[in-house]
Amino acid sequence: MSTDPFALFDAWLAEARANEPNDPEAMALATADASGNPSVRIVLLKGHGPDGFVFYTNEGSEKGRELAENPMAALLFHWKSVRRQVRIEGPVGRVSDEQADAYFATRSRDSQLGAWASDQSQPLESRDLFEARYEEVKQRFEGQDVPRPPHWGGFKVMPRRFEFWQDRPHRLHERRLFVVEDGGSWSEGLLYP
Ligand SMILES: Cc1cc2nc3c(=O)[nH]c(=O)nc-3n(C[C@H](O)[C@H](O)[C@H](O)COP(=O)(O)O)c2cc1C
Repeated sequence: MSTDPFALFDAWLAEARANEPNDPEAMALATADASGNPSVRIVLLKGHGPDGFVFYTNEGSEKGRELAENPMAALLFHWKSVRRQVRIEGPVGRVSDEQADAYFATRSRDSQLGAWASDQSQPLESRDLFEARYEEVKQRFEGQDVPRPPHWGGFKVMPRRFEFWQDRPHRLHERRLFVVEDGGSWSEGLLYP
């Protein structure tokens, strides 16, 4: 019987959590626009499993615009302390409004206000302008819960391909590849380093 890549990911993430000095959930997220021009940035993993690898962001950001045009993505975890990387590729879907509301409610009030104040990835004239917008939303929501902004939500990358890479001496690295088959089962193989 072949390994379940989700269980293997859980085991590797647990080891990364025990060893990384910070942000073991940080992952590079690569997207591309409709013409295929790529872009990449770090986001934080906020949930994962066969339904998808979830992150939250401003949907009007560069990544949000690219995912609206081309809902495919690649994720990369690089855990230096354990000399491993995991690559994940697949189509991208939206997290439900209920799930996004529930996660937004767990964020600190300051980051909730920041989500309202930030026009993520748009040109910003000055830091003062951002701080003024922040003060403005702080006053607007004074004395009440901060609701999730309509432009802020979650995306989930649904894995079709996983690669687990483990450093070995003399660059004889170990690469295990998992690819989803029709019907949803996973085939497992190796790649040359
Ligand atoms: C450790 C780390 C974690 C981050 N987590 C997030 C995140 O979860 N969501 C997010 O929108 N941006 C996150 N960012 C900021 C993004 O890297 C990026 O600057 C921002 O989302 C704008 O990207 P875009 O213009 O490509 O859309 C994080 C940055 C770092 C360094």
